[in-house]
Amino acid sequence: MKSCCLLVLLICGAQAQIQGVAIEAAPGADVHGTIHTQLDKTVSLLCRALEEGAELVWRRNGAMVSLKAENQRGNSSVCVTPVLHQDNGATFSCHLGKNATVQDAVTLNVTFPPVLSESEDVSVEEKSPLVLSCETFANPPVSPPLWTLNDSTVDLLAGSFSVTNDGSTSRLSCGAVDRGLHEGRYQCTVDSPLHGTRTRVFRVTVTDKTTKFPLMPIIAGVVVVFLTGVFAIFSRWSKITKCCK
Ligand SMILES: *[C@@H]1O[C@H](CO)[C@@H](O)[C@H](O)[C@H]1NC(C)=O
Ligand SMILES: *[C@@H]1O[C@H](CO)[C@@H](O)[C@H](O)[C@H]1NC(C)=O
Ligand SMILES: *[C@@H]1O[C@H](CO)[C@@H](O)[C@H](O)[C@H]1NC(C)=O
Repeated sequence: MKSCCLLVLLICGAQAQIQGVAIEAAPGADVHGTIHTQLDKTVSLLCRALEEGAELVWRRNGAMVSLKAENQRGNSSVCVTPVLHQDNGATFSCHLGKNATVQDAVTLNVTFPPVLSESEDVSVEEKSPLVLSCETFANPPVSPPLWTLNDSTVDLLAGSFSVTNDGSTSRLSCGAVDRGLHEGRYQCTVDSPLHGTRTRVFRVTVTDKTTKFPLMPIIAGVVVVFLTGVFAIFSRWSKITKCCK
């Protein structure tokens, strides 16, 4: 995903004149260093050069953006469509082809909510580990979620739970489930200043421990077959040796 950089840069329309170079967000929006946008939207940027017909160069995070010949002189446009997660924080700069210090730049701020809405039924065997995960990746970032069990805050100590948060995922886990302690309705709730409260529900049921693969009877069976074979050969051999005498 990252390497192929799903940026689709298209050629848009243009016209104008300013001092040095200046970037505008089309249509006509003022840009003060940052452009606020959302996932899947389109951002169109127009760079204008004061000098008529001056060659312009666009860069995304320092890497040159390839432009069609007719989109390189006087004014030049780039479109980011659709806007993706990896465009968050990306800086687009435009400079004169003959003097890179004559430049303007904008940074994208792509806001997106944490993806938490669906609910899940989880079935776990008695004494097996339980791990519940919540995606908390969002912009603006959210605080670690609140984990509840049957509508009360999860008692980490009582349930031998541990919680890890790595900035994009929160995990509630316990090493060996016990029906009395761990069965129930879990919720992870995240509060976003921009996107409101989001919740994910896990209905956890603990099933009886199934008997593991019966290894001992199989070994006993193999031994019996082997010994039977040995006895068969032995008795036969004793018959053979008897008749040879
Ligand atoms: C590039 O532009 C800057 C700012 O206008 C100017 O100070 C500098 O001399 C120019 N450099 C060249 C090589 O033209
Ligand atoms: C991006 O915009 C959001 C919402 O306006 C804001 O909370 C956040 O701080 C901004 N992020 C950056 C890096 O400017
Ligand atoms: C949670 O509620 C369910 C349904 O009322 C109940 O069966 C379960 O034992 C409760 N879990 C805990 C840990 O109290």
